[in-house]
Amino acid sequence: MLAPPAVQISDLVMRYGGTTAVAGLSLQAEAGTVTAVLGPNGAGKTTTIETCVGLRRAQGGTVRVLGQDPSGRRERAALLPRIGMMPQDVGGHPGARPLELLKHAAALYAHPHQPERLAELVGLTGRTLRTPYRRLSGGERRRLGLALAVIGRPELVFLDEPTAGLDPHGRHAIWELITELRSLGGTVVLSTHLMDEVERLADHVVIINHGRVVVAGSPAVLASRGAERAMSFTGPAGLELGSLRTAIPELVSVEEPVPGRYWVNGELTPRLLATVTAWCASNGVLPESLALHRRSLEDVFIELTGQDPRP
Ligand SMILES: Nc1ncnc2c1ncn2[C@@H]1O[C@H](COP(=O)(O)OP(=O)(O)OP(=O)(O)O)[C@@H](O)[C@H]1O
Ligand SMILES: [Mg+2]
Repeated sequence: MLAPPAVQISDLVMRYGGTTAVAGLSLQAEAGTVTAVLGPNGAGKTTTIETCVGLRRAQGGTVRVLGQDPSGRRERAALLPRIGMMPQDVGGHPGARPLELLKHAAALYAHPHQPERLAELVGLTGRTLRTPYRRLSGGERRRLGLALAVIGRPELVFLDEPTAGLDPHGRHAIWELITELRSLGGTVVLSTHLMDEVERLADHVVIINHGRVVVAGSPAVLASRGAERAMSFTGPAGLELGSLRTAIPELVSVEEPVPGRYWVNGELTPRLLATVTAWCASNGVLPESLALHRRSLEDVFIELTGQDPRP
């Protein structure tokens, strides 16, 4: 029997006064997978995550987390020990120190991680562990936020932009931790603006815009949507392209936008590559460079949302 989804959101509607933040959003996160929610600023990611952990009550539609309604009082009490959350703004008492906070949090759970070991895993060590929250750097606060989210060994964690503002080292440490969580059977739902994060971590990506899902699928499938690709080569300027145009399929175009740079636009197939190189050979053209250009997830995102993913 198929396991029920860890998160099931159907037609969620959320408003702040006159602003509709979430406008009929439906998404599903399967148990044991990493789901990435991608969307421009203000798309409704944080609002959706906050609703999943019971910080806000759904105003329309339904939200089920591990089969429970997170805003139901009794259900929420049963649910909280099983889930974790890393908020976008981690926040913390200005005087509280990371190790103290982790120990306090650990005491709330039946089988928590050992605080010192977890702190080391997220890269909080030495003096940092005893530094008051107000003096932690942005990156250190995020590392602490992640540690607090997972200290109780939750089955499911929601991470709201877990690597925002982290240096490359910190980002890799957190990616490793997320990968480990999944390999232990955990479920992760994260929001992000980083395409490499999605490509590296996510099994499933949901792109949202204006509070609605625009498209969902695996990162590889989304990136190949429409199979739009291109090929380019450089060579002598002003080549006579007529015979190449007749050799390639009708929907493929060839241009020389800059002297000596040639672009072949259309669906890339092995046959098209062979046609272009055969044409080069029969015209005595040895390209200085030849490249195949694939559409990235970022191209798909910009096309679907009309916005750059980076804030
Ligand atoms: N507390 C609030 N009061 C009023 N409006 C809010 C509040 N929180 C969010 N909004 C509005 O709701 C919309 C969705 O916000 P949300 O924080 O969910 O977006 P997001 O996708 O997380 O964006 P970001 O990528 O910037 O974190 C935005 O238009 C935002 O201005
Ligand atoms: Mg947000």
